[in-house]
Amino acid sequence: MIFNTHILFFLFSFSFVSNILHSSSKTSKSNSDSFVLACGGSSDATDANGRNWAPDSKFLASPSNSMTASAQSQDPSLPSSIPYMTARIFTSSATYKFSLSSKNRHWVRLHFYPSSYTDFSAAESYFSLTANEFILLRNFSALITAQALTQAYIIKEFSLTPIQSGSLNLTFTPSSTHKGSLAFVNGIEVISMPEIFQQATMVGFSDQSLETEYSVFQTMFRLNVGGQFIPEANDSGLTRTWYDDSPYLFGAAFGVSSEADKNVSIKYPSREAEYIAPVDVYKTARTMGPNPKINVNFNLTWVFQIDANFTYLVRLHFCEYQLSKANQRVFDIFINNQTAQQSADVMAWADSKKGVPVYKDFVMYVKDDGNGDGELWVALHPSVSMKPEYYDAILNGLEVFKVNDTRGNLAGPNPKPSWLQQKAISDQQSRSFGPSQSNKRARVIGGVVGGLGSFVLIVGVLVFLNRRKCKTGTRNTNTASWLPLYGSSRSSGTTKSSGSSRFSTLDGGFCRHFSLGEIKSATKNFDESQVIGVGGFGKVYEGVVDGGTKVAIKRSNPSSEQGVHEFQTEIDLLSKLRHRHLVSLIGACKENDEMILVYDYMANGTLREHLYKTNKPPLSWKQRLEICIGAARGIHYLHTGAKYTIIHRDVKTTNILLDEKWVAKVSDFGLSKTGPTLNQTHVSTVVKGSFGYLDPEYFRRQQLTDKSDVYSFGVVLFEVLCGRAALNPSLSKEQVSLADWARNNFRKGTMDSIIDQHIKGEISLECSKKFSETAMKCLSDQGIDRPSMGAVLWNLEFALQLQDNPDGPNVMAEQKANDAFVVHTTLFNIEEEAEETDDSSNVIFSQIVNPQGR
Ligand SMILES: *[C@@H]1O[C@H](CO)[C@@H](O)[C@H](O)[C@H]1NC(C)=O
Ligand SMILES: *[C@@H]1O[C@H](CO)[C@@H](O)[C@H](O)[C@H]1NC(C)=O
Ligand SMILES: *[C@@H]1O[C@H](CO)[C@@H](O)[C@H](O)[C@H]1NC(C)=O
Ligand SMILES: *[C@@H]1O[C@H](CO)[C@@H](O)[C@H](O)[C@H]1NC(C)=O
Ligand SMILES: *[C@@H]1O[C@H](CO)[C@@H](O)[C@H](O)[C@H]1NC(C)=O
Ligand SMILES: *[C@@H]1O[C@H](CO)[C@@H](O)[C@H](O)[C@H]1NC(C)=O
Ligand SMILES: *[C@@H]1O[C@H](CO)[C@@H](O)[C@H](O)[C@H]1NC(C)=O
Ligand SMILES: *[C@@H]1O[C@H](CO)[C@@H](O)[C@H](O)[C@H]1NC(C)=O
Repeated sequence: MIFNTHILFFLFSFSFVSNILHSSSKTSKSNSDSFVLACGGSSDATDANGRNWAPDSKFLASPSNSMTASAQSQDPSLPSSIPYMTARIFTSSATYKFSLSSKNRHWVRLHFYPSSYTDFSAAESYFSLTANEFILLRNFSALITAQALTQAYIIKEFSLTPIQSGSLNLTFTPSSTHKGSLAFVNGIEVISMPEIFQQATMVGFSDQSLETEYSVFQTMFRLNVGGQFIPEANDSGLTRTWYDDSPYLFGAAFGVSSEADKNVSIKYPSREAEYIAPVDVYKTARTMGPNPKINVNFNLTWVFQIDANFTYLVRLHFCEYQLSKANQRVFDIFINNQTAQQSADVMAWADSKKGVPVYKDFVMYVKDDGNGDGELWVALHPSVSMKPEYYDAILNGLEVFKVNDTRGNLAGPNPKPSWLQQKAISDQQSRSFGPSQSNKRARVIGGVVGGLGSFVLIVGVLVFLNRRKCKTGTRNTNTASWLPLYGSSRSSGTTKSSGSSRFSTLDGGFCRHFSLGEIKSATKNFDESQVIGVGGFGKVYEGVVDGGTKVAIKRSNPSSEQGVHEFQTEIDLLSKLRHRHLVSLIGACKENDEMILVYDYMANGTLREHLYKTNKPPLSWKQRLEICIGAARGIHYLHTGAKYTIIHRDVKTTNILLDEKWVAKVSDFGLSKTGPTLNQTHVSTVVKGSFGYLDPEYFRRQQLTDKSDVYSFGVVLFEVLCGRAALNPSLSKEQVSLADWARNNFRKGTMDSIIDQHIKGEISLECSKKFSETAMKCLSDQGIDRPSMGAVLWNLEFALQLQDNPDGPNVMAEQKANDAFVVHTTLFNIEEEAEETDDSSNVIFSQIVNPQGR
């Protein structure tokens, strides 16, 4: 009997796989068992990915109590106008009916764009949704949910069990507790899917397991760990989307992300296994890092906010593509601080076959933490007791599914906006005066609702801030950057471009080519004793070339492809920029798959290591001021010195380096973006940068301008003045963020009380006033209110003069300093400092700005 059902299942799923793998080739058109509907649409329409959406009306049981509407504005972060720009609105309970195959599961995906529609505003909409006897949503507000996630639109995905009757009723019911409430929906997908769930044991109860056969699941998170966003078209036939995992990482312990070598192929153990996850998920991974001493001292941890009082299925995807034997990388898996799996060994699970994907499911009931919130922690730690060859752990993909409760319910409460968001909303409200209530509301929504990138970022910020009570002991160990290090901040993206073709532009002669032999002799064959820094990208060595010149040598981790893109960006940018206040790239080496950069040696390390948490003697105030002025010059040069604006994107005290004469040099262009050209006012991009320094406008709108760097630099200025970190999660709530803390003290006139003790006696009152005013202007909430870097520089110069001559240099200068937009060009001559940016380099430079042009 059991034997029979297994065979049947196998036959079924085999034919299913061949079906989906064939039909998924490009457009997933509605077939007899799958439906893709644009609600409120009047005819078939194709979205930006070439997917076909049919109108919804013929699936409605009684169209009389519904109406169609069009959104009044299209948020720029919408992936496509189909299906989001039209909606179906229900004034009372209404049902969509689908007749489906009774043999298999179905995805139900619902798309909501809570915007303003003709005669309808999503703010007044609360409703429930049932799928036959299962409750999928209850008292659901798409607007509140979208606001809390800072997304313009939301997609809810469920996996329904096979329906014996073959008929699915999807019923929308406006909430009765909110007067005049309406229900709405923009898009519905009902898609045939194979059974991808099977019995899974409960963590901590080896004798209990979840019978997945009868369970309906809601997808909470689906992450391509160590990799990039995977759109539905690139999924292995099930039209799922996979997101970057880095926003969910706990603390600063990011580990290292990598991509499989091109000669390693991913070999699924069976044909059906292909739809568990696509190759792109298994080809990238996150590991703990190269240093075993560091790895044993931390857990590689992901933290998720979830609805309490539900059971969750956590699916971890693994694929070992670096090592080839069992017992090389063995680790423990913890879920919510309980051991879920001891001595996980991916190679052993995969029968010692390299490149074979495996996955493990764990089930966990998550209780209320007392505040109505739930959290899911997934942590990996080397199994030291197993004495593996490497103390390390690996993860390639992670999915979290919510399981229906005993009453067939999956609905949780609407999310509560975080205090950061509430603040952003109220700040925005207090600024918007005049317009009518509804306008005001629209502005608030517009400001808060961003794209997916910012969703991801905010969750990251929240996780980080929420954890502020935790110990910070092991946080910064593997990111001790004191040279331009890639991946030491938020640059977690891996890229598929080989880099080699672009590298050849180097041969144009802006930077010197080193042979691998030269590099090896400079670093005593990469001897560990020469290592001066470690980052996600690899190691940085101290070395000597040309019989005496000290250099810093950054070597990409040969087993990692992380940062190829950043590597190339930095070469492209640095080899064309020469400035006293930018770290100079001396040369590069690309041989035998090595990517090595050679820089000027910075004898005094980073600015941060001279400010706090250090044994080094404190810098004097004048030294600090001069360093700030130098860094401001470097950034100003990036913004204005070249033909195009270059936005650094990651200005912070660890990216300001000091040479033997204490000259400040800006480093780490791995994240840089070339900025707006004439016909654009901003660069729209996925949010990158470091927490604590991020321009709030950038993360609200994902619009990057040179003023984003000005904001970060404002934080740097306060860091220098106050001698504390930009974010210190161990302090009380008001003090966590230096920007907020300084802003409040400035407003209350208590700046004095937060100035670094070491410089308090030295700093003159006038100078400190000018300095903090300048920093405050940099932190203005809106970019347009912030000074340009040139004005910042001018003000800092002025502050220095005030320090030397407290009576004030002269009235003229004071007036100019107060005018944030006047730049005194004779103080710094861009042309002179930019002498190496000649015409021929501009030709190449413009190619970098328009990469699609080649
Ligand atoms: C779907 O709704 C119809 C009435 O509209 C009802 O007769 C039918 O039993 C429902 N089907 C299920 C599976 O609930
Ligand atoms: C998706 O697949 C296409 C074709 O294989 C590829 O060109 C594209 O880069 C992929 N997109 C992503 C984001 O991986
Ligand atoms: C893949 O290439 C690397 C060097 O790039 C080599 O060390 C490794 O042995 C190769 N693996 C296979 C399976 O050929
Ligand atoms: C796990 O432990 C950490 C501290 O060790 C704690 O902060 C966290 O709340 C715990 N997580 C859960 C879900 O209990
Ligand atoms: C890793 O997590 C587990 C479970 O929460 C905890 O017991 C252990 O102390 C953690 N290890 C480190 C080094 O933080
Ligand atoms: C979870 O269940 C407990 C006990 O039944 C209850 O007090 C709490 O309010 C519930 N939390 C949520 C978020 O439903
Ligand atoms: C989910 O719902 C089904 C059908 O109502 C029920 O049999 C099953 O026990 C539920 N799952 C859980 C975990 O309660
Ligand atoms: C519905 O959701 C709103 C917003 O989250 C909440 O204020 C209200 O109490 C909820 N109503 C019910 C009946 O749960």
